[in-house]
Amino acid sequence: MPFRETLFAQNRRWAAAMTADVPDFFSRLSRAQTPAYLWIGCSDSRVPASEICGLKPGEVFVHRNIANLVHDIDVSCLSVLVYAIEILKIRWIIVCGHYGCGGVRAAMERTEVGLVDHWLKPIRTLYHHHAGELDAIADPRARLDRLCELNVLDQVVAVCRTSVVQHAWARGEPVAVHGFIYDLADGLLKDLHAAVTGPDGIEPIHRLVTERLGR
Ligand code: CO
Repeated sequence: MPFRETLFAQNRRWAAAMTADVPDFFSRLSRAQTPAYLWIGCSDSRVPASEICGLKPGEVFVHRNIANLVHDIDVSCLSVLVYAIEILKIRWIIVCGHYGCGGVRAAMERTEVGLVDHWLKPIRTLYHHHAGELDAIADPRARLDRLCELNVLDQVVAVCRTSVVQHAWARGEPVAVHGFIYDLADGLLKDLHAAVTGPDGIEPIHRLVTERLGR
């Protein structure tokens, strides 16, 4: 069956199964979304946010890109953050990486991948900052996996450095940013225990003087 027919047939079966389970599932969901979580993850097809967390449509707001990066001037990612925090009132933000990430590998191995090289540049800088620890890991696979973890930790802090998160904290909203990593080999998530829940979790130079902003 051609790909288009396959996808539409599967979609019809899925929608029928959902309504067989909960008859008003789609009519209820079509009125509004109230997801509890924002997921910032990798585009890798093997790491689908809702499936691996056992969540249904409507339960997780998702932003994915190559190597789950939070660039300072990525309008797409920043817009998702603003919408999640200010409109959807989401309080739990998850940055989730995964072991064996191809984006992190390309950065580590200095493989030239065209435009993507620009996107991955922060990972090369991150490697440079942790070269002592990383170069001491003899096994390339273990070195890659450690860099995948360090990248998640770095992106947790990047989320916290944004003005939208800092404004939320200044308003007294309990926004928490967590760092998880997913293992493709066994399907399990691991908490990196790097949760940041206030400005104390970021470097002083990145803490905005939010009271001056009148927010
Ligand atoms: Co990846």
